[in-house]
Amino acid sequence: MAMTYRIAPSILSADFARLGEEVKNVIAAGSDWIHFDVMDNHYVPNLTFGPMICSALKPHAKTAAGVAVPIDVHLMVQPVDALAAAFADAGADLISFHPDASGHVHRSIQAIKAKGCKAGLVFNPAEPLDVLDWVIEDIDLVLIMSVNPGFGGQSFIDSALRKIEDVRRRITASGKDIRLEVDGGIKVDNIRRVADAGADTFVAGSAIFGKPDYKAVVDAMRVALS
Ligand code: DX5
Ligand code: ZN
Repeated sequence: MAMTYRIAPSILSADFARLGEEVKNVIAAGSDWIHFDVMDNHYVPNLTFGPMICSALKPHAKTAAGVAVPIDVHLMVQPVDALAAAFADAGADLISFHPDASGHVHRSIQAIKAKGCKAGLVFNPAEPLDVLDWVIEDIDLVLIMSVNPGFGGQSFIDSALRKIEDVRRRITASGKDIRLEVDGGIKVDNIRRVADAGADTFVAGSAIFGKPDYKAVVDAMRVALS
């Protein structure tokens, strides 16, 4: 069966002075999801945006035809639960968190799902996947970090490829419909390699927002994936 690939531009690299317009433009360029990087200056050494920005952008997260484009919230925060609930209320569709930032991973997953959102777990480059032994049945998404979280524009860390292969095996064994997303250093020239390792969803920040023509980049990524 052919894999369905999704491209999720990270608005971390967008022009923050024109965020609504940037979301509209990147959706017009063909984004499947909008990736929303939440940093708290505690779990990671940077500070971005909170739930009020998410609710302000929610009305802009749709195609010209009015079809909603999912907001993919990546929480780089500690603790997790209160902010996860606030983002669910702010219109997030998917909420992912780092298991090492939650004292009770299973509880955090259930709390996100109880709010009607899809739940994901995020793994840093040096973080083992062991927690998946116990919760893969409960989640909708695995997000593999291919850079250390905190900043856009870093280089892809190659060991992520082995980790993606490992996650793909686990997802196949689970028999569940779970997205395998990769975040950090994704460009037109490496996206095919990352897909071949087993990823189906690709975050890209600087690769897209760093160029004048967003559609040209998204199209080139799709060509590389085809
Ligand atoms: C890093 C963020 C990423 C980041 C990716 O902490 O989670 O989503 O925006 O940016 P690029 O694509 O520039 O590596
Ligand atoms: Zn991210």
